[in-house]
Parts: sequence; C-alpha cells; structure tokens
Amino acid sequence: MVIVLDFGGQYNQLIARRVRECNVYCEVHPHSMSLDAIKAMNPKGIIFTGGPNSVYKEDSPTCSKEIFEMGIPILGICYGSQLMSHLLGGSVATAPVSEYGKTEVDIEEGSCIFEGISKKTICWMSHTDYIESAPEGFTVTAHTPVCPVAAMECTDKKLYAVQFHPEVMHTQEGMKMLSNFVYNVCGCTGDWKMASFAETTIRELREKIGNGKVLCALSGGVDSSVAAVMLSKAIGKQLTCVFVDHGLLRKNEGDEVEEVFGPKGSYELNFIRINAQERFYSKLAGIEEPEQKRKIIGEEFIRVFEEEAQKIGSVDFLVQGTIYPDVIESGLGKSAVIKSHHNVGGLPDYVDFKEIIEPLRLLFKDEVRKVGLELGIPEYLVFRQPFPGPGLGIRIIGDVTAEKVRIVQDADAIYREEIAKAGVDKTLGQYFAALSNMRSVGVMGDERTYDYAVVLRAVSTSDFMTAEAAPIPWDVLHLVASRIVNEVKGVNRVLYDCTGKPPATIEFE
Ligand code: XMP
Repeated sequence: MVIVLDFGGQYNQLIARRVRECNVYCEVHPHSMSLDAIKAMNPKGIIFTGGPNSVYKEDSPTCSKEIFEMGIPILGICYGSQLMSHLLGGSVATAPVSEYGKTEVDIEEGSCIFEGISKKTICWMSHTDYIESAPEGFTVTAHTPVCPVAAMECTDKKLYAVQFHPEVMHTQEGMKMLSNFVYNVCGCTGDWKMASFAETTIRELREKIGNGKVLCALSGGVDSSVAAVMLSKAIGKQLTCVFVDHGLLRKNEGDEVEEVFGPKGSYELNFIRINAQERFYSKLAGIEEPEQKRKIIGEEFIRVFEEEAQKIGSVDFLVQGTIYPDVIESGLGKSAVIKSHHNVGGLPDYVDFKEIIEPLRLLFKDEVRKVGLELGIPEYLVFRQPFPGPGLGIRIIGDVTAEKVRIVQDADAIYREEIAKAGVDKTLGQYFAALSNMRSVGVMGDERTYDYAVVLRAVSTSDFMTAEAAPIPWDVLHLVASRIVNEVKGVNRVLYDCTGKPPATIEFE
C-alpha cells in the first residue's frame, strides 16, 4: 500500500487514483497522521500532496521531520516538495516568476523516477513559491528556465520531490513518473485488482443485511445506480429506491430513470418516484447566490426524501452512493471549499434506520464504472456524462424559474442531439447548455426582441479537476445555435464558453 498525505491541495484524490491505476492500493490520510499510525499501516511508500500554503509561514501544515528517517520512500509534490526541502535545510522562497500551466521541464539523466521520460517534457506547474536551493545530500534532477529545482532526490534516503504535478493529465509523462516511483523506488508489485470487487461486495451485503429492509435514494447517476443494482442483486425486493425528481433534471431524464429502475425495468426492487418540481421551484424563487441555491436544493432534497421514508417506516439500512473522493473531501476537509457538493451535504435527520451502507466508498469514479459494466448495467447509463446533484439549478445563472428550466432543458437537448449526431460526443468529457443571466437585444422577423442568451460549454478532461475548452467543429456549433434560436422560445443569442478550468470551473455556479 501507498499512503498519500494530504496537505490541502486540489488534486489530492487524483494522486491516489493514479497510484491505483498502477494496480497498487492507495489511501489518502491527513498530514497530521501520527508516525505510529503510519508505521502500523506498513506502507511501501508515502506521497506528500500539494497545497495552497507557504511552508515558511507559521500556521502552514507540516509534519514531523522524523518521517524522513523511517526508511519509507517519500515523493513530495509541489507544496510537498517544498516542505521536504524546508524541513531538511534547503531554502524555499517566493519565486520571482510564478509558473502556471503547461511548462517545458528539462530532465537530467540518471534519476530512476524519470526512467524512460523525454529529456524535455511538458509538465503542469502551479506555484508561487519555489525551492531556491536543495538541501544537502540532494541532487537536482530537473529544472526550468525560472525554476532551478523542478525536481530533486536523495537516493540514499529514498526521498524524491517534484515541483510540478505528475498526477494531472496535462503532465504528459506524469503517469510514467508515478509508476516509476511506486515500482522502481517503492518496490510495489502492482497486483491489486478489483475484478472480483462486485462479486465479493454483493456476497458481503447479502450476509450483512440478512432479512433486513433497505432504503436507497436513487438519482439515476452512475454512483447511485451502481449501488442500487448491487443491492438489488444482493437482496431483491427487500430494497426500496426513492427517486426524487426535483424539476432540475435534463429533458425527459425522470422518465428515463423510471424506465430502467421502475416496474417495467429489469431489476428486482421497489421503485418510488416523487415529482417535487413545484416544491423546489418555490424554495428557489428569487434566490441568486450560487452557494445558497446549492444549499437549498441539497436541504430540500433531504426533506422530501425524509417525508417519503417516514411513510415507509422503519428500515434497517440506508444506502449512500458515496464514493472515495466524497469520503476524502468530507473526511479530511483540508482543501479550500470551491463549491459545496450536493451529495456530501449531509444525512437525513428523520429517517428511521439503524445503519448506513456505502458499497462504493472505496472506489473512484472510473472504478465505479468498471463495476457497473461487470454488473451488466447498460453502457449508456454507466458512461453517462456526470450530472451535478443540484442539476440545472447551477446551470441557470441567478434565480431559477420553471420558464428558465424549460429553456435550458430544450437548448441542452438540442445541443446533445447534434453533438451525438456529429459523432463528437466520445471525445468530450462533459458538454451541456447553460442559461446566462443576460438578456440582450435581437431582431426576429422585423421585430425587436429582448431575450436570454444560452451558453454552450464543452470540455475535455479525464479527471474533472482540470479541463480544457473543447473545440467543437464550427458547422456543428452553427447548426446548434440556429436550432436553439429557432426552436427555443425566449432565446435570441447563443454563446460558446472558451474558458478552461482553472480559472473557470466546469459548471457555472
Ligand atoms: P466544477 O464545476 O466544480 O465541476 O468544475 C467538476 C465536476 O463536478 C460536477 N459537480 C457536481 N457533482 N454534485 C455532484 O455530484 C455537485 O454538487 C456538483 N457540482 C459540480 C460537475 O458536473 C463536473 O463534472
């Protein structure tokens, strides 16, 4: 096993995911984890993450210097590299020139973590501090024109550090560097596999639940769908799934979920659909602030679910489709809150259950998809685009009304239809229409119009932590724009969002 110590960076989960992609089991723990606790886990390697702080400031997260004497290989990334340098006597300072984004890095020959890596390689940098000079005993193994220590190592103590982020996909040979670390330095064998995960988990669920009753909040997204199917296979009709349609779903989505999981679908379970559109719209009326909207939707979702659960009465278990990134985010909570995610918002207070079951809590998203496929869930469901818990509520900038939901649903359906027809959907990480809060003047049939502007977004990303705006062929965009203004009442302008993440986020709120 490899342990990732969390110093508060945005990409921490990704590091663990990349290590697991090398078939090496990996867990994320807080940077404050004691040395005894680390020793007890007997890890083959430790990775220090990045983080937003400066190592030389007083309150910055740190760790005991003794960690470097344990004989366990350590790889420091970004803040983690600076911390290693700082604690071991190197100097860290504000860089005269910050590096941000894709950067060409010169690699020295001879480092085993750079085995097979090009002499000049594109890496993702994101730092305002830098290592000015490496600690004694360290060799500098990479640099850029403005960063004298882009990587360093002390092979005797098995300590390695990189200023850039090997875990993000924009570091072109990052995966190779991480696999070099886990195999060449840590000596991991790469035999952790999840092929039998579904089978084992279903058996364990069946044993644990016995004759018990289980309740599951189903959203139709990949996580809750995979969790529900696992439980259906384990306990059949002892499972009841409640699907709350909050009126912020994509066009026809509620009916699609019902088709798969409802009485006409192919799974053995009890399915209850609640149409709560009006309730959500009235709670959201006049609310413009994004975080407030997110909180209202999350909170109301729980209330509706609770009411339904009370009708069902006492159950033994409540299922949560929690996946590993949620566990890390809510458990460690060191990273800056960019947005409060709906599905980690909290638990219902008034549901009468004895225990929570989280069958996916150790899996990353791509691992959940693999399990979904193993379970025979249709591919279109397993590979569905991610859709946020607060739904269209965060794709309508400003206050939400039924009319705006109708506009964004119709525009989005046209966009998705044309993207699929053009065959470019497989190349995109996520794409959707949103409604800007802007109205502008247009002309239609000699008449002045004063209508909404729809924004189209498409990004390529594999991890959703960073993303690039995707180039949609102009003829496709042109067709979508003309269909939207012609077919969707209330829209007279269509804009395309060309911003990457960072600095934008994928969703608009
Ligand atoms: P952002 O907008 O933060 O989105 O760049 C990154 C990814 O997360 C999805 N997202 C959410 N998913 N609940 C979710 O389950 C949420 O509250 C939420 N907010 C954003 C977003 O669609 C993208 O895939």
